[in-house]
Amino acid sequence: MIVLGIETSCDETSIAIVKDGSEILSEITYSQIAIHQPFGGIVPEIAAREHAVFIDELIWQTLQKANLTWSQIDRLAVVNGPGLVSSLLVGVMAAKTLSWALNLELVAVNHLQAHICANYLNNQKTSAPFICLLASGGHTQILFIQSYQNMQLLGETLDDSAGEAFDKVARMLGLNYPGGPAIEKLAQTGNPKAFSLPKPKVGEFEFSFSGLKTAVLRLIQGLPENYSKADLAASFQETVCDELSNKLIKAAQKFNCSKIVIAGGVAANGRLRSLIKEKALDLELFAPNIKYCTDNGAMVAAAGFLCPQNFGLDFTVYSRAC
Ligand code: KG4
Ligand code: ZN
Repeated sequence: MIVLGIETSCDETSIAIVKDGSEILSEITYSQIAIHQPFGGIVPEIAAREHAVFIDELIWQTLQKANLTWSQIDRLAVVNGPGLVSSLLVGVMAAKTLSWALNLELVAVNHLQAHICANYLNNQKTSAPFICLLASGGHTQILFIQSYQNMQLLGETLDDSAGEAFDKVARMLGLNYPGGPAIEKLAQTGNPKAFSLPKPKVGEFEFSFSGLKTAVLRLIQGLPENYSKADLAASFQETVCDELSNKLIKAAQKFNCSKIVIAGGVAANGRLRSLIKEKALDLELFAPNIKYCTDNGAMVAAAGFLCPQNFGLDFTVYSRAC
């Protein structure tokens, strides 16, 4: 089955054509990062307008790049949430229009499930069951994936997501958006033990990063101007990665599952990957190729094959996880 996936939930207009949920035939991503950088974060109104300007051309180019015609596409898959409503609407309206005009099967896809499906791409075909840590800019969750169609939420963040914490702390350190890659780069030259930062006291598989963020702010306010930003970046990154990896491993032990999987933008973090490997010697770790951790159309096409949520033209967009 050949699926064309459309992702417009945030600041990437990303289109991909994927065969059987795994083999990427073509993909094109237009990232708006440079446009939002001066604002220190995403401006929803600007994001939606950028999607609207480029989406038609990107869909057309992706089809051409795969050397396919519309008659060879079996299904359209589009993310309808969670995400920025105005941005989601652009992708959903483009997909509905194509489906109606070309009489093509249309499915809606959950953005979080799509992140998990990135582990199926590029012939990786990671098979369930597994325990998954999903850490993106909007969500931080621990899930028991019994199958790609049956995902059980075990716990999630009570406030900020891990990605949000990276972005906000990066801003405090004077780094550019998105903060995750910027902190990871700076942390390479820092000492992760230089500063001791607080660990939240929350439930077994819950997270909380807003206290940590405030602790970093207070710390900076009390430090001399020439403090080592690299040391603070490394200490912050270590605290977040320690928390994420501990809960992932704990869930695997509790549910007697030897396979663990990471997904979402924060899963691109090298220290998170190495820390999990260091701690989980008896568990098998699977992760998407770095490029497919952050938002992309290929994961949407994979989810459209593995776990479509809604068939037909009768669905709408939603901003929050459900
Ligand atoms: O999954 P994603 O692309 O978008 C959402 O669905 O939110 O995740 C974006 C988030 C941002 O907060 C970004 O700072 C974070 O993922 N991120 C990282 C890294 N790359 C992206 N965080 C830590 N280390 C990274 N290398
Ligand atoms: Zn995402």
